[in-house]
Amino acid sequence: MHISTLRDQFPALTPPAAIYLDSAATAHKPQVVLDAIQDVYRHSANVHRGTHKQSADLTTRFEQARVDVQHFLHARYPQEIIWTRGATEALNLIAQSYARSQLQQGERILVSEMEHHANIVPWQMVAEQTGAELVKIPMLADCTIDMDAYHQLLAQGAALVAIAHVTNVTGTRLPIEEMISAAHAAGAVVVVDGAQGIVHESVDVQALDADFYVFSGHKLFGPTGIGVLYGKKALLDAMPPWHGGGKMVERVSFAGTTYTDLPGKFEAGTPNIAGAIGLAAAINWLQHLDRAAIEAHLHQLTDKAICALSQLDDVRILGRQANSSTFSFVIDGVHYQDIAMLLDQQNIAVRAGTHCAHPLCDALNVAGTIRVSFALYNTEQDVDHFIAAMIKACDLL
Ligand SMILES: Cc1ncc(COP(=O)(O)O)c(C=O)c1O
Repeated sequence: MHISTLRDQFPALTPPAAIYLDSAATAHKPQVVLDAIQDVYRHSANVHRGTHKQSADLTTRFEQARVDVQHFLHARYPQEIIWTRGATEALNLIAQSYARSQLQQGERILVSEMEHHANIVPWQMVAEQTGAELVKIPMLADCTIDMDAYHQLLAQGAALVAIAHVTNVTGTRLPIEEMISAAHAAGAVVVVDGAQGIVHESVDVQALDADFYVFSGHKLFGPTGIGVLYGKKALLDAMPPWHGGGKMVERVSFAGTTYTDLPGKFEAGTPNIAGAIGLAAAINWLQHLDRAAIEAHLHQLTDKAICALSQLDDVRILGRQANSSTFSFVIDGVHYQDIAMLLDQQNIAVRAGTHCAHPLCDALNVAGTIRVSFALYNTEQDVDHFIAAMIKACDLL
């Protein structure tokens, strides 16, 4: 495999496309994913409903997509894979079904300070509903988690721990293995937000012993509007349904309703069929690539960009992480939006702002950052163009 041949598989990169350094927001899609989505709509039918062949065939493909995700995550059972709209919906599902039914007044939910709002706000909402207490696991100045504080917080008691696998602003990889085993020793259930982490590592949920692991399809080269909630079967079995409607029921009468087993219990209504099959296409495509070589390439691009940026006056890299494909920086005294705009004028797409992570920005004492994130289709030339554009932007500022 050569990176330049991979690039050709992404129609969104056909010239004169921008130099895309915003893959942590969403990744471009390879042609195989576009084909898989189009193919579903070409033979359109609903799933789990019709007695006709078209519906039966599509149902088989839809359920095969679930099995593909099961194998991708090394989950024990396909029923442990629940389709959602994305990581956000999966986290809300856990909060409203698991946490709302389990948490007691005064019990503690530990959430890291480095989280995306999707892994903070659902816990705040359920804390209000149940009387549970939300407690922050602080981060250190180098944008890593404060493990001493974490162990102390666990010792004071916790019912649930919610942490990112990899953070979206600084690309910090949390020591989730150690955090999960410490949480379990303290009797807490652990939710891992894998929205960024799954893109860069192969994940084995059984080896990790994660109770819940969630991610979105669109950051993993799949479609938008599809995501995955993995949960241990025993936990999911005991959880009440969240959304009500068709296909999640066994029998409905005005006297009461009984629900189907997993995974249908959590999948009310017509699902995102093309999304699930498109995501499976992305996963199957990714699994045939040399992921270790891709990661080495991404780390090289990150190192090259950071090294060149650091030569520029007043540029401050925030919490540089080793082996990352994402980093954030600021130029003191210059608004992040102005830099992003000057880069955009030179056809370079970066993300500027608070990245749905206000607490992290507060902890770093910055109003916002410019974030650069690489994916497997980026090249050394992309970094050269970015640096040249930054030099020009700095001259203009
Ligand atoms: C770490 C992290 N968690 C959660 C999310 C939310 O993902 P989505 O908007 O696809 O639900 C994101 C998206 O940027 C993210 O980076």
